[in-house]
Formats: sequence, C-alpha cells, structure tokens
Amino acid sequence: MAPEDHGLRAIIYERDGASGRATLKLLDQRVIPYEKTYLDVRDSKDGWTMINSMVVRGAPAIAIAGVLSLAVELANADLPQDPSEMASRINEKLTYLVTSRPTAVNLAIACGDLKQRVARAGPGATSKDLAEVVIAASEELMRTDTEGNLSMGSFGSKAIQEACRKRRSKDTNLRVLTHCNTGALATSSYGTALGVVRSLHSDKVLERAYCTETRPYNQGARLTAYELVHDKIPSTLVTDSTAPYLMSKGEVDAVVLGADRIAANGDVANKIGTYSLAVSASYSNVPFFVAAPVSTVDLSLPNGSGIPIEERSSEEMTHLPDGKRVVADGIGVWNPAFDVTPAPLIAGIITEYGTVWPNSSGEFDMKGFIDSAR
Ligand code: MRU
Repeated sequence: MAPEDHGLRAIIYERDGASGRATLKLLDQRVIPYEKTYLDVRDSKDGWTMINSMVVRGAPAIAIAGVLSLAVELANADLPQDPSEMASRINEKLTYLVTSRPTAVNLAIACGDLKQRVARAGPGATSKDLAEVVIAASEELMRTDTEGNLSMGSFGSKAIQEACRKRRSKDTNLRVLTHCNTGALATSSYGTALGVVRSLHSDKVLERAYCTETRPYNQGARLTAYELVHDKIPSTLVTDSTAPYLMSKGEVDAVVLGADRIAANGDVANKIGTYSLAVSASYSNVPFFVAAPVSTVDLSLPNGSGIPIEERSSEEMTHLPDGKRVVADGIGVWNPAFDVTPAPLIAGIITEYGTVWPNSSGEFDMKGFIDSAR
C-alpha cells in the first residue's frame, strides 16, 4: 500500500472525463469514530456550511474542501454567457467561502490564488475557460497537498531524530506527543504533524505516540486516536492536563503538532492547548516542533498578535455530544478554539520544503525560507 493510500479519506472528489461533471463527498468528522458517513457537497454554499459546522476541519482540509466545493458547483452548473459576470460570480463565492472559519489561513490563501488566476486568464477567456481555471487549480491543490505531506513527513522524521540525538544521545525508540488532529482527516491524506508521526513509525524509530484528548472538541480523542489505531501505531491517549506531567517524567522525547496560521516571525496559531504544551515542553527541555505546509504561513502578519482567534459556542464545554448539559446553568464560558505560541518556544517549523530553524538570535525568517524554497 502506498503511504498516502491508507483508507482514511476526509475528501473524495471525482470528475467524469467525458461529461465534465464532478462530485465531492466529505467524511462527516462529527460522528467519527462511531459512524463513517460521507455527505454530498453540491456547491460552495454546502462547502461553507460543512466547514463552519466542522463536518470537515483542519487547516489544509478546510482549504481543499472549500475550493473543491466551488469546483463542483462550476463543473455541474449552467454558466452565464458573459465572462465578466462569470468572473465576478467566482470572486463573490470565493470571498464568501473565506468567511466560513477565521483562524486557519490556508483557505484564504487558496481563494486569493484562485482570484488571481481568474484575473490573469485574459480578455479572450470564455466563462467555461474561467470555470476550468478554478477546477484545475482546486484539483491541483488536492494533489500537491498529498505530495507535500509525504515530503514533510520525511523532513520531520529526520529533524526529530536529529534533535533527539543531540539532546538525549538517542534517535530511536522515540516517544512523541501530538495534539489535536493533523492527520489524513485534516488534509488530503497522510497528514502534517501526524504525517511526521507516520514517517517516524515507518522509519522504525518510533516507540510510542501520545495523543492528547484536545478538549473541548476532542479532535485528539475522537480523530487522532482513530487514525493511530487504524495504522496500528503503538499509541496512548492522555488528557490535556496529563501531557505536561508526562513530559516532566522524561517520557516524551519530542512534541510535534500542526498550525492554522504562522506569522512572518514564526509565531504559531494552533488548537487551544498548544501554548501550554509549548511552555511545559520548554520547562522540561523537550524539543517542540510545528509541522505545516507553507500555505499556512501568513507573511502579511509580522507576528502572532494580529491572528484572528475563533471563539466557538459555549455548548462545546457545557454539554455532552448527546446534548446533555453537564455544567451548572448560569456559569460564564469562554471557548477560544485556538491560541498563539510565541516563536522562541519552537525548536523548528517543518514544511514540505524542509525544516525552518531559528537563527543564532533565536529568530525565524519565514519569508527568507519561503523565497529560497520556491
Ligand atoms: O478546529 P480544528 O479541528 O479545525 O483545528 C485543527 C487544528 O488546530 C490543527 O492542528 C491545524 O488545523 C492543522 S491540521 C493539519
């Protein structure tokens, strides 16, 4: 079985070569692991709703599902005759898609890129040509995401082995902790940080993966545990508050987790709880890695203070998934879905082009890295 073909698919997209019609199905991640149900996405409105309601989640998967939802709409709908009407319709829908969730930047970057491609298509382009520009670029995003994840996995495995060799004179039997879900379910396949865990496992240097529950939405307990068990990777689930204790006992050799947005100086927005893991890792001298594609880097932000942080409904904390209230009525609730980890707490940022290390002053130069990688 090819490493990327492991039966865990969040996004299933197909296009019929003869008719040009396309279909898109998203795995309903709200009911994993009890049920494996795929929902049909007919258009960008469905795409927006499914991203907003967490049918699909994880920064790269949000971007891919979002642009493919517009691709299926354009592949199957009657198009307006006038190309300028077509171009403004596409732009409007792309702008709308970006409002589905605020923190992960990948969808905004993908939609901005599609707008530019449509604008560059030239004065002679027909409505059909413009639709094909969107469809081809969206299909390409899905394909290149998988390729990028595989290469991120191998760069990440090397970086973690090297860091562990330097610090603890060991680069095998590694125990690695991860947070939230960054696997096949959060991407086109394989994953980013969980892809790195997969690569450590296939390189035969992983003794155990620890995954946190990731309260309050439990992406770690529900989704990462499911992926680790699916791949038969030796693994243990811990509560979020157990992770710092585990590190203090010397039971974790490295932490690797994902990102929703990375500022130009390497500050990282990721699932709530990332910052406290980074602080604990620093206190216990455990190298703390972030793995993310360069499409997660927002060079327009000099640091993490400008990253918009999504706040989600209080029900995620006050109610069980079956709707039963478990918290006293009347208590105030604050439920930010993400936090920001300052760059100095990060050992390295693993991308599909290699690992970004801090310079001798401890600073990350994300722009310099991206410019030289491309
Ligand atoms: O709220 P979610 O489940 O979309 O949050 C997901 C994360 O925070 C991931 O770590 C991040 O998007 C990277 S996924 C490869």
